Amino acid sequence: MSAKTTASAPVPAPVPPTEAGQAPAEAVSPLIRGVAVLRQLTEAGGSMSLSALERTTGLARSTVDRITATLTRMDYVRLDGRDAILTPHVMELGNAYLAALRLPALLSTHADRLADELDESVSLAVADRDGIRFIHQATRRRAMSLSFRIGDLLPAERTAPGQLFATEWTDEEWQAWRARRTRDPQNRDFPTVPPPPQNAWSDEDFVRRTARAAAENCALDDQLIEPGLVAVSVPVRDPRTARIACVANVVSHTSRHTSADLRETLLPRLRLAVAAMEEDLRRAPQPEPGPPPAGLATWTGASKQELGREFIESLARGLTVLAAFDEGRAELTLTEVAKATGLARATARRALITYEHLGLVTPTPHRAFALSPQVLSLGFPPLSRTSLPRIATPHLTRLTDTIQETTSLAVLTERRDEIQYTARAAATHVMSVDIAVGTRLPASSTALGRLLLTGPTAAAAAGSYALADEEPEQGVRAIAVPIHDRNGQVIAALNAATHVARRTAEECVHDILPALLATASHIETDLHTAARFTQVPLT
Ligand code: PHB
Repeated sequence: MSAKTTASAPVPAPVPPTEAGQAPAEAVSPLIRGVAVLRQLTEAGGSMSLSALERTTGLARSTVDRITATLTRMDYVRLDGRDAILTPHVMELGNAYLAALRLPALLSTHADRLADELDESVSLAVADRDGIRFIHQATRRRAMSLSFRIGDLLPAERTAPGQLFATEWTDEEWQAWRARRTRDPQNRDFPTVPPPPQNAWSDEDFVRRTARAAAENCALDDQLIEPGLVAVSVPVRDPRTARIACVANVVSHTSRHTSADLRETLLPRLRLAVAAMEEDLRRAPQPEPGPPPAGLATWTGASKQELGREFIESLARGLTVLAAFDEGRAELTLTEVAKATGLARATARRALITYEHLGLVTPTPHRAFALSPQVLSLGFPPLSRTSLPRIATPHLTRLTDTIQETTSLAVLTERRDEIQYTARAAATHVMSVDIAVGTRLPASSTALGRLLLTGPTAAAAAGSYALADEEPEQGVRAIAVPIHDRNGQVIAALNAATHVARRTAEECVHDILPALLATASHIETDLHTAARFTQVPLT
């Protein structure tokens, strides 16, 4: 705990009411603004110019600059010229929600298996106010259908799971839904769905569909989102309360299934899968609470010292509060949040008040707090579709800038006899090694291939690597290190290639290997964050 850092830091000024609408007096305005920037970047698909951020958030340019500098320091954003780009590390926020929820960890294997069995997309969704939000997607890539991402929010009335969640709405929730329908008939609050067709259906149609869903314990979506898209849904009930924990959906296209034959052919198998899911929920042991994190926010004081005005400490400290939640830490008291973050109680309390106001945190009946599904709106959807080459590329660029040699990422092909280059950052020497992304080479004659086939051929104190001289091309000298997945399996390799005249083998090890290993470790950190609840393609 850093009592010193936290006690001596100035308490952030209360939010002026004109800036934050109905924000309570104790809310932390820099945190509200930082969250607004993260939400804008998410809606824009993960990247935006600083001037566009200034326009869409209505914040002063100097404020946008300070917020993005702070988010960059947290490694939630990187700056590329005039653009701010969300990094995979920001997924730790959504991961905290998904881990605390436990449903993806307990149910996603069932969903994936059903998708394989039916050769159709299968998703899991939770209720989010008068909408639904996806927490898992087992997507079949098909020409004909849009598919949603983990974290996307859809209006309840345009979906099958929405009908099921509405069976549990209170009068107040129905009123809130009707008020939203009146305020936003075009679903502009839901940028991932196209506007509804004119006069397509009335509010009363949704009420009728909900009644039918209650009677049948399943629901159909017959092209409510867009022509051709059909879905059938069954609720997964919490064994202790019998309330809907999430909804499992099979999604198809009218070219393969009408909504009537979804019900006939696919619904019975969906019901079986849901029965197995509910059985697993019944049997799931309480999560093992690991050692609670401590002092998550203790680094912020040093960053403030270093960056001065550009670093908004109250934003950085506030954001660490979200990362305090995890599997087995789904509900935290103020004391527990303060302990995990190392923040003074008063600071932690104000962050929680701010999050409650923003809808990111909800109070629980036990005088504690839990994350809400809205935490997924902080960066998760665009990044849930990333790939290893995309994760690696900015790291390769930085490495090439540092060592002034061409760097590449490669994987083994399915037959394991070749390697394929999947990402690359070229050095600007006249004689730089020029191998394009997509190129395949025999695995046995490259440092990359040898590493992937047989593991490292040498183990230096700092880590393992492979060296290849004059192969596969005369004059080329390459040094490669492995990239591991979350289970410790080698899934790719990173190399730097030089000309034999430029560096000896010893110089490669001495001058390049440390930077190469550090880069591999940064790529692994991002990969492991991104892959905790999503499938990250290797190519
Ligand atoms: C989806 O997973 O993409 C999905 C699920 C249910 C719907 C529509 C789409 O009603």
